[in-house]
Amino acid sequence: MKRMIALIAALTFVGSVSAMAAGPESITFNAKNGNVTFPHKKHQEVLKVTCKECHGDKPGKIEGFNKDKAHALCKECHAKKNPDTAKCGFCHKK
Ligand code: HEC
Ligand code: HEC
Ligand code: HEC
Repeated sequence: MKRMIALIAALTFVGSVSAMAAGPESITFNAKNGNVTFPHKKHQEVLKVTCKECHGDKPGKIEGFNKDKAHALCKECHAKKNPDTAKCGFCHKK
């Protein structure tokens, strides 16, 4: 019986972790030329970018995420979709 309760508790825990696994709704990156507010959830749900496109096989912190990685990921796709969205001021807001 004890084991049964532990099992249920474990399953509930896994359930709440996967609900949170989509990550933050929005992420702000500080940058001296204007902070970037990244609507994470909107990219997933409205813009339909898959987790894999940004995270590969393991969603979560991106190791060594920095200016170069951000520009390679974010600017590249924006440039392809619509060049106006690859302009500095589209992401960097003073
Ligand atoms: C358009 C790109 C993009 C898409 C799509 C995307 N993410 Fe993210 N996600 C990011 C970036 C960038 C970060 C911040 C990474 C960092 O600071 O190391 C992040 C952070 C996260 C984090 C938080 C890490 C932390 O501890 O702060 C989780 C969890 C996460 N993403 C899960 C997901 C899941 C699950 C999906 C798909 C449903 C998804 N992401 C789709 C770009 C994306
Ligand atoms: C795979 C494609 C893709 C990637 C990767 C991507 N975006 Fe986007 N993003 C889009 C598209 C498409 C739009 C909608 C553009 C438009 O309005 O024409 C958008 C819109 C935005 C907007 C405006 C949102 C709004 O509410 O108007 C911001 C800010 C933004 N992206 C920042 C980022 C940042 C920062 C990253 C990297 C962490 C990133 N994007 C990665 C495709 C992408
Ligand atoms: C599609 C979104 C996007 C566009 C467009 C963009 N950037 Fe960025 N940039 C970012 C993100 C996100 C970061 C933050 C990365 C980090 O801190 O991990 C960043 C970081 C930077 C940094 C580092 C700032 C600091 O304080 O360390 C500089 C400088 C920079 N960008 C310059 C530019 C310039 C110049 C342009 C236009 C030619 C530009 N960016 C266009 C998303 C963008």
